[in-house]
Amino acid sequence: MLAFFNYPFYSNGFIPHGHCYLWKTGLVWLHILSDSLMALAYFSIAIALVYFVRKREDLPFKSILLLFGAFIIFCGTTHIMEIWTLWYPTYWLSGFIKALTALISVYTAFTLVPIIPQALALPSPAQLEVANSQLKLTLKELAETQTQLIQTEKMSSLGKLVAGIAHEINNPVSFIYGNIGIANEYTENLLKLISLYQECYPKTLSKIQILAETIELDFIKKDLPKIFSSIKIGSERICEIVLSLRSFSRVDEAEIKRVDLHEGINSTLLILGNQLKGQGKYLDIEIIKEYGELPQVDCYPGQLNQVFMNLLTNAIDTLRESIVGCRVPKSNIISAENQQPTNNNPQIRIVTEVLDSHQVMIRVIDNGCGMTEEVRQKIFDPFFTTKPVGSGTGLGMSISYQIVDKHGGQFKCITQPLQGTEFQIRIPIRSKLY
Ligand SMILES: Nc1ncnc2c1ncn2[C@@H]1O[C@H](COP(=O)(O)OP(=O)(O)OP(=O)(O)O)[C@@H](O)[C@H]1O
Ligand SMILES: [Mg+2]
Repeated sequence: MLAFFNYPFYSNGFIPHGHCYLWKTGLVWLHILSDSLMALAYFSIAIALVYFVRKREDLPFKSILLLFGAFIIFCGTTHIMEIWTLWYPTYWLSGFIKALTALISVYTAFTLVPIIPQALALPSPAQLEVANSQLKLTLKELAETQTQLIQTEKMSSLGKLVAGIAHEINNPVSFIYGNIGIANEYTENLLKLISLYQECYPKTLSKIQILAETIELDFIKKDLPKIFSSIKIGSERICEIVLSLRSFSRVDEAEIKRVDLHEGINSTLLILGNQLKGQGKYLDIEIIKEYGELPQVDCYPGQLNQVFMNLLTNAIDTLRESIVGCRVPKSNIISAENQQPTNNNPQIRIVTEVLDSHQVMIRVIDNGCGMTEEVRQKIFDPFFTTKPVGSGTGLGMSISYQIVDKHGGQFKCITQPLQGTEFQIRIPIRSKLY
């Protein structure tokens, strides 16, 4: 039994292969070197294949690649045997190895045939590239829709809140405003009556005289009309504020309208009024309005208010930051004299003008910290923010860009570190969407 297994290793009766080459040194070396190199190449290819398959778990047709590896190893081994049999004539062993190589080669060839159509059906790199860019596009659209949704949600909640407050204030204020005129008329009549009494009865009872002096009747007569007039002015102001709040919220205006842009800017400024006032270490922010004669512009008023809101909030943020100290890296400051922020008095200039018969321009200019070129290039990217976690979502500018773009307009930002920032918006006067 043992003899059967040892049989292939018997070399009795055979002559080593080297004899066939008559042991010619050059010929023997030629065979040794060629076979060694081929074996080495085969083994390295097999190792590389196995390594590749192990690293790429997601690879299709892994089994055929491993079969290639096995078949290549056997091919390499046959070449080793070629060298071995030069001296040791174990031809049965080398024959068995060759037979195994043949078997595995044939098996690999048969396995390969049905795989070919499947492999041909695999998408080509060019097709994958197309699919990939389509996916990237869809992803970008999704991200844009997401930013829009978040911002719209934010603005619509703010709009609803503002509209709600405006509505609640509107009722009592109309009640006050509506009655002021009547109350004024009644008091004027009463005062006239008192004057008439005083004329007809110059000598009154001392009790009446004392009370008239105590309440300073003469002063009341002069002051009361003034009080009424200031109550009237005050309630008119509240009515204006309510109107502005309504104009800001524009909850009912999802459609394109022909509007006065100054109205939108003013109502946004009104909403931000509190933030423009100095508090603690912060100074008052001065608003300089340089409004031109603008025609009514076709737009989605609520959405443009959203843009004004985002621009003005960013300007307020940078002006507040400039008071505490701008976070602009020294390497980005252009010259030595520019090392301080431009502003001593924080200012926002709002300039509006008609550019030509087709478009108007709105410029929002602050004298805050400005931006580095690196930041400027990214401001319209969704979720890009330089503000501390929790204070900025990084959506304001990207959504504003989309809104201006939707209106067929252009958005431009001119800035330098410590030199303030100017945002320019060009909007067509007449929209194709109207
Ligand atoms: N006027 C400005 N001056 C200086 N930097 C600005 C100005 N406007 C925008 N930026 C920069 O652009 C970035 C992006 O602004 P964006 O309005 O999109 O997001 P944000 O203000 O950080 O967050 P939010 O979503 O709350 O508005 C800001 O973080 C800021 O670095
Ligand atoms: Mg912002």
